[in-house]
Amino acid sequence: MRMYDLISKKRNGGTLNKEEMTHLIEGYVKGEIPDYQMSAFLMAVYFQGMTKEETSIMTDLVARSGDVVDLSSIEGIKVDKHSTGGVGDKTTLIVGPLAAACGVKVAKMSGRGLGHTGGTVDKLEAIPGMRVSLDRNEFLEIVNKIGISVIGQSGNLTPADKKLYALRDVTATVESIPLIAVSIMGKKLAAGSDCILLDVKTGSGAFMNTVEDSLALAKEMVSIGESAGKKTVALITNMDIPLGNNIGNSLEVIEAVETLQNKGPEDLTKVCIELAANMLFLANKGDMESCYQQVKEALENGTALQKFAEMVEAQGGDKSVIYDVSKFEKAAFEKEVLSPVDGYITFMDTKECGVASCILGAGRETKEDDIDYSAGIMLVKKTGDKVQKGDVLAVLYSSCAEKIEPAAKHFLEAVRIEEQPAETQKLIYARVTADQTEWA
Ligand code: URA
Repeated sequence: MRMYDLISKKRNGGTLNKEEMTHLIEGYVKGEIPDYQMSAFLMAVYFQGMTKEETSIMTDLVARSGDVVDLSSIEGIKVDKHSTGGVGDKTTLIVGPLAAACGVKVAKMSGRGLGHTGGTVDKLEAIPGMRVSLDRNEFLEIVNKIGISVIGQSGNLTPADKKLYALRDVTATVESIPLIAVSIMGKKLAAGSDCILLDVKTGSGAFMNTVEDSLALAKEMVSIGESAGKKTVALITNMDIPLGNNIGNSLEVIEAVETLQNKGPEDLTKVCIELAANMLFLANKGDMESCYQQVKEALENGTALQKFAEMVEAQGGDKSVIYDVSKFEKAAFEKEVLSPVDGYITFMDTKECGVASCILGAGRETKEDDIDYSAGIMLVKKTGDKVQKGDVLAVLYSSCAEKIEPAAKHFLEAVRIEEQPAETQKLIYARVTADQTEWA
């Protein structure tokens, strides 16, 4: 089989069979197919797309290119949850404990921050002592004992995705719906859970900027999950406004704790209840109505907060900070950003809000950079709010005084204030299952 022929077949709109796809992925991982030929193939996919079958075959090959986690020693139904990434997205810290408090087993591997988006693993590491790399046995034991563990991805999970993603990143082929679906679902299938809940973000802070693209990605991923025998549901949720009020690692853990105390911001609480209820539904915990009820109870009676503290303790973290968030280290420098005019906030470029938080030190510019856990932004006003000149829009935090002014400038440029209010946006757009799309 010649790679040249596979490239020209895809370029001309043809469909690769299993044997051809296997040659492609295995050959690339082994180093037998050079980057320049794989780049040409990826660009052909970018323009021609892939059929559902090709996408499923490729995902399976990516999933099996390295370790596949065996969760069979964990009793009960294991449900994974994945967000396509956003700004202020601390939902895993809330939804995981909520689902676990209701009897769902959550054995989750999360990622670090990527570009302007934060990562769950970085947020967890903001908790003093918290370990996010556990050996396989300890991970399984914790999930069996308390129902939840969240760790970083192991070294040899989906090496094909690592290689392909790095190549896509430098060949302008990241923004291809089938390739994104293969990349995300390859990792999910390798992570070994029985069911998968996907949170596909949409808007200015998300990978997909339009609901139309987000829906196409959601459908593609649900189809891959179901073909692999995993019950899969996707929610399409708003990322055109940062989620909750806090952006940055310690700040987001604090807000997650407040939400688990049922004192969190309304938008974040609503999205988390929706996600957790869907995880319960996937785990056969009842019909949707009963799943909402169970989740709300776990929020109100404190069992979800307790579950989070149990997980922190089991992974070596100081659980006293969960019960007293004032113990989190404070940033040495802070600054209030004031509204320059009267009006209504009609748009917050959410990606740029994330970039402002990174400028403060909450994210990395290179993989080797250290994170300033106390850095970030506390939003006081958000899209839709009425403001007067001089009102505080946000408070910025950093351990480095020089980072405050450039971040404040960047943040202010991301906020649009106009005389008339904009239309209210939806928080949850749709729920996509194997059979249908339900619009909210
Ligand atoms: N996240 C991933 O894991 N892969 C992609 O291709 C895009 C977002």
